[in-house]
Amino acid sequence: MTRPLAIIGHVSLDAIRTPAAEAGDVPGGAALYAALGARHAGAAVTLFARTGADWPAAATAALAASGIDTTGLVAGPGLTRRSVQRHDRAGNRRSAHHDDEVWWERTRALRPPLPDASSRWAAWVVMPVLPETLATAIEAAAPAGIPVIADTSEAFAARAREALLAAVPGLAAFCPSVAETRLLLPGRGDDDAADVLAALGTVVLQKRGADGVLLVDRAGHRRIAVEPVDAVDPTGAGDATVGAFAAHLAAGLPHAEAARRAMATGAAAVGGIGPAGLLAAISSLSR
Ligand SMILES: Nc1ncnc2c1ncn2[C@@H]1O[C@H](COP(=O)(O)OP(=O)(O)OP(=O)(O)O)[C@@H](O)[C@H]1O
Ligand SMILES: [Mg+2]
Repeated sequence: MTRPLAIIGHVSLDAIRTPAAEAGDVPGGAALYAALGARHAGAAVTLFARTGADWPAAATAALAASGIDTTGLVAGPGLTRRSVQRHDRAGNRRSAHHDDEVWWERTRALRPPLPDASSRWAAWVVMPVLPETLATAIEAAAPAGIPVIADTSEAFAARAREALLAAVPGLAAFCPSVAETRLLLPGRGDDDAADVLAALGTVVLQKRGADGVLLVDRAGHRRIAVEPVDAVDPTGAGDATVGAFAAHLAAGLPHAEAARRAMATGAAAVGGIGPAGLLAAISSLSR
């Protein structure tokens, strides 16, 4: 049996607005989507995140029913972090919450707990967190030889550029979107930015929405296309892709094959509102 993945980050309650659908109080957050993505890709998964008093027990139950160990999902002070996810027809996203002081306050108050730093983990997957939390995770994982795979978000890439770049050499893989690499390395082309990040000493999986991903490792550049599907709601697709990529790496697949298979999970994630697409895909796998 392969060792489990620890997925570390934030969960949230989201308002989702797409041209096709509107929904409120949808359980989400990058850590939730990454955990579901890793599960969809067949990994054993433990989720580490802090919820608030308004977090629905049914959301935890749904994660547990899909096979995720939720013992690291613990109650923190106050209310759950909330965000608004707006997607237009062209696939552009607006995340107004990044300018919201309450969102930053909740982000600081609900920093995720870290797993025990032991060799029982195949890897730690650190989803968008404050840069000091990422640095602490890298430092804690290193002595036990635990690989750390990380994603970021536009909020952190815009406000904590230097700290994020400083963390990159400590990562086994870094999985930002193109929007994030443009913020981290302004003035560079997208391919060039991925090369610069990889040259810092990591494997780069640069997410490009319906255009797939660019993988950069020692073997060079590989552009991996997706079979675009009609997206019901793209929220969490990138996060699910990262969880699945980590799961396939942990299972011993080469980088390019792990990336290729992770795209199937990304496509499943866009098939329903919020986590619904992934939950349905996971339950049909286990039948
Ligand atoms: N319409 C689509 N059809 C098929 N696959 C898709 C589609 N949209 C996204 N994906 C898959 O999901 C992956 C991640 O999407 P994207 O690049 O939008 O991530 P992101 O910007 O990190 O998003 P988020 O953080 O909101 O989850 C893509 O690389 C692709 O594999
Ligand atoms: Mg993302």
